[in-house]
Amino acid sequence: MRIFLAPMEGVVDHNLRKLYCAIGGVDYAVTEFIRVSQSRLPDHVFYRLCPELTQPIKIPVRVQLLGSDPANLAEHAKRLADLGAIGIDLNFGCPAKTVNKSRGGACLLQEPNLLHDIASAVRTAVPQHIPVTAKMRLGFNAREGYIENAQALASGGIAELFVHGRSKVDGYKPPAYWHAIGEIQSALNIPVIANGEMWTPNDVKQCLDESGCTDVMLGRGLLATPDLALAVKALHNNQAYCFMPWQHILPKVWQYHLSTLESYDPKYAGNRLKQWLMYLQLNYPEAKPFFEAIKRMRTAQELENAYHRYQTGF
Ligand SMILES: Cc1cc2nc3c(=O)[nH]c(=O)nc-3n(C[C@H](O)[C@H](O)[C@H](O)COP(=O)(O)O)c2cc1C
Repeated sequence: MRIFLAPMEGVVDHNLRKLYCAIGGVDYAVTEFIRVSQSRLPDHVFYRLCPELTQPIKIPVRVQLLGSDPANLAEHAKRLADLGAIGIDLNFGCPAKTVNKSRGGACLLQEPNLLHDIASAVRTAVPQHIPVTAKMRLGFNAREGYIENAQALASGGIAELFVHGRSKVDGYKPPAYWHAIGEIQSALNIPVIANGEMWTPNDVKQCLDESGCTDVMLGRGLLATPDLALAVKALHNNQAYCFMPWQHILPKVWQYHLSTLESYDPKYAGNRLKQWLMYLQLNYPEAKPFFEAIKRMRTAQELENAYHRYQTGF
């Protein structure tokens, strides 16, 4: 079984990927999406979103592109391959209005021929040994057309397909429709990786049973429970697992925050820490008072003082 860390724009950056790699259980990661429009993106954009191009970590990191122009996407994918990308993923799942309005993400699920053309152009542009993959939802306005869309991508030459088991209008509302992911897996002869609404090892087991898939991609569940992937693998191997207590998570969270201070403009200090704490509170009630204390703070010094107060019980 393979576990992929889901791409999450604004949350899962290279600092977090490195940390999850150290915690263990995750086998692959995908970057936040890089939006490709008409103009040619400079290389520093790729290095910023995927520093692993020059500083690889233990797990392979695929770079995700979002756009609608086959030739332009192909050109950017080729450039990424030249810069050392070990895989290219194509985003057909983003539900954001601004992205969909400019013909990107999930809205392309209404155009299966275009999906095929994008996959095919990117596949042709990138050397064969570099996998080209795609990530899609079950539809745009409704859960429909997903078999046709998946087949269009497969016939374009993708190596595997990530399926978030919801339509764009489903947003992030539970449930995720794992059986529909299974319908896609049955219709394709490439691996389909199931994604959506897996928060516990038992959720993963149920998803695999319902979909018939062997691999999963985990997003918010991993953010809420950083060692979820280890627990999933333990259950898969019939081994007992004891989740990390909050006292072990907290220093990792802080270490992550410090690494973000080196990566982003000081005016964004704490943004990514706050994002992660929002998810951690779902599983660790201890995270809540810390989040509440820092949520309006803006400077690294304020955050540092709050952290020390929190450690000593306020
Ligand atoms: C804040 C946030 C940012 C996301 N950014 C991306 C992205 O950049 N690319 C992408 O393909 N999916 C993105 N997603 C979707 C996730 O990868 C995943 O498909 C979704 O969260 C469902 O999985 P989960 O229930 O395990 O979280 C994002 C989701 C969230 C909540």
